[in-house]
Formats: sequence, structure tokens, C-alpha cells
Amino acid sequence: MPFRIAVIPGDGIGPEVIAQGIRVLRAVDAPLDFVSYDLGAERYLRTGEIIPDPVFEELREASAIYFGAVGDPRVTNPHYAAGLLLRLRFELDLWVNLRPSRLLAPGMTPLKEAPSIDLVVVRENTEGAYVGIGGQFKRDTIDEIAIQEDVNTRKGVERIQRYAFQLAKQRRAAGHPGRLTMVDKSNALYLAHDLWQRVFAFERSRTPDIEAEHLFVDAAAMQLVKNPGHFDVVVTSNMFGDILSDLASELVGGLGQAPSGNINPDTGRGLFEPVHGSAPKHTGKGIANPFGAILAGAMMLRHLGEGRKADQIEAAVISAAGNGRTTRDLGGGLTTAAAADAVLQALETPVRESSSSTG
Ligand code: NAI
Ligand code: MG
Repeated sequence: MPFRIAVIPGDGIGPEVIAQGIRVLRAVDAPLDFVSYDLGAERYLRTGEIIPDPVFEELREASAIYFGAVGDPRVTNPHYAAGLLLRLRFELDLWVNLRPSRLLAPGMTPLKEAPSIDLVVVRENTEGAYVGIGGQFKRDTIDEIAIQEDVNTRKGVERIQRYAFQLAKQRRAAGHPGRLTMVDKSNALYLAHDLWQRVFAFERSRTPDIEAEHLFVDAAAMQLVKNPGHFDVVVTSNMFGDILSDLASELVGGLGQAPSGNINPDTGRGLFEPVHGSAPKHTGKGIANPFGAILAGAMMLRHLGEGRKADQIEAAVISAAGNGRTTRDLGGGLTTAAAADAVLQALETPVRESSSSTG
């Protein structure tokens, strides 16, 4: 039985990059059936619908969701984006947001020195300041009060830190440093983030074989720029993960190439998307970088147990990037489709297998 992939191209450059991602996924002959969903700003403006309930049920049943971007300058209602992407993250309980940053080619970092950068931000994806608890009082007066609560539950903090420790173990087994950095702001947020500290102390004592350290988020931002090669697995809250992962992706070439996976390891549900948004200023020009969407497709394959095909796609993107066959944000001059063509050509070039039988 093929996997049923619900495709939500969404807004802005979303449809442009997702179309290229699907071309690449088809090229590796993965057992995927794509079902496209017309959700996004056009539909919202036309009908007022964000995700109709029967559609939500279909999305719940899909093997995975492949998502472009949400956001349209014509839509000012903040409940629109929350009702689409955040609803899927929260109601499908996709509590892990995995955001890897890996230097695809040496010239792509804006840093003077180009160390090898290969890290993954593990962002808590269902809590924090994004849950929408709060309110406004005396709006638009000089006495206005605006409150948005930062929600941290023991269950939520434990499961994300435990996942990160396990990921560090897996990465170490695969030849990475296996170092875990827990990032919070417990010196100032001494109530909410004290919970992160206590959970960290416990998880660390349970996993003594993993090198684990703590940084405050401001110091982590500084260290990511100063010494990015130091980082391997970074676990943090929803908002800090959102911010630090944009910073980390810029260190390896920018938002255009950054993939992400929103997953629930318990149910197996997952939504895979580029980190970037709808980039309205690039929309319709054919210049958006498709690598983030293509690499998100590879993450989806890995999640579905097709790790070998995921490796092939990642190797093909690295090959295209290494040959300078990129869109202009990565220093090349290709269109969106031509950059995907470069990946497809690299896929066709047989990768030399290392000989395992002869040692
Ligand atoms: P953005 O990620 O859409 O774009 C920021 C800048 O990054 C762009 O102006 C462009 O210079 C660059 N960029 C992003 N993707 C690129 C690509 N594929 N190729 C080349 N350059 C690329 O963030 P922005 O401008 O803050 O938000 C635009 C809209 O997207 C807003 O409505 C925002 O709410 C939404 N958004 C949606 C996200 C999602 O769907 N997951 C994530 C972030 C923002
Ligand atoms: Mg973001």
C-alpha cells in the first residue's frame, strides 16, 4: 500500500516550491500517493473557510502532510494562520519540530570562517507562548493591557527533552558528536523555565553517557554565531526554537534551503514543510529556492521508513549546491524549476557505492 500524502501547497511561494518537491519525490520512485488540498488564503478569501472539519478528518488520516507555506498580505486576520498551520500542529499533537541546519557547501555561510555546521534544533511545538491563552483589556486606549501566556506543562517539557536526548544518542551512533544543548531563559523566566531546568537535571541523570550542557537563550544566540560547529542537538521551547532555527538556517545559507518536520513520535503523524514562509515579495517570479521544500520531502521519506531514498535526495541537493547550481539566494542564478532540475540530474548520476563486502 502506498503512503497517502496530503499536499497543502498553501500561499505565496508555497505552491512553487512544493511542485518542485513533488517532482523530486516522484523521481526516487517512493511509494507515495499525493492528494492535493485547496487550502490557503485564496479559499479563505473566497469562502471564509480555513480547514473545513471533514477535510481536517482526511488530513488526520493521511500518512503524512506535505506543506508549503501560510501567509498572505491580503489576509490580516491573525486567526487565519493559527487556524491552518497552528491548528494542524496542535490538534494533531505534532509536538516535535525538527529543524536541521547543515552546511550544504563551504561557500554558503555568511561567516568569515566556515566550520562544518551540522546541527538540529528540536523545538517544542505545541506549547509556550503560541497556544493563544491571554487577552486584551481596554484595547486602543492608553490603559491597554495585552497578555499572552507562556504555557509549559510537565508532560510537554519532559517529552521534548527526552526525545532530544534520544536523538543525541542516535546521532552519536551515526558519527555525530551527540552533544545536547538545552536552551531556556530560566534566569529571568524563573517560574516557567525552572520546570525546564528540573526536567533537564532529571533527564541528564538518566542519560549520563550523553554530553549535555545548558545555555541561556541570549548566550545561545551569540554562541551559534561565534562557534556554530560546537552545536549538535539543541532542545528548546516553541518561541526560542522558532527564532534560533531561523538564525541557524541563515548560518548555512538562508531560509530558502531549510527544511523542517513536525512530528508526533507516538502516533507517527507528521507534517513536513520548509522553514520559510510565503515570501510575498518573491511570489510568482520563479526565483524561490526549492531546496527547503525538497529537503523537507526527504525528511518525510525518512519518517515513513524510506531512509535510503531520503539519503539519495539529500546527496543530490548537496551535489547541486556544491556545483553552484542554485537559486540566487545561495549564490547561483537558477530559477526555482532549474534548481530542481539540477537536483533531478544529480539523482540520475549513479552514486558510487562504498564496497562493504571487501572491507
Ligand atoms: P518568509 O520566510 O516568508 O521570508 C523571509 C525572507 O526570506 C524572504 O523575503 C526572502 O528574502 C527569504 N526567503 C524565504 N524563503 C525563501 C526561498 N524559498 N527562496 C529564497 N528566499 C527565501 O518570512 P516573512 O517575510 O517574515 O513572512 C511572510 C509570510 O509568511 C507572513 O505572512 C508570515 O506570517 C508567513 N510565515 C509562514 C510560515 C509558515 O508557513 N511555516 C513561517 C514563517 C512566516
Ligand atoms: Mg519561524
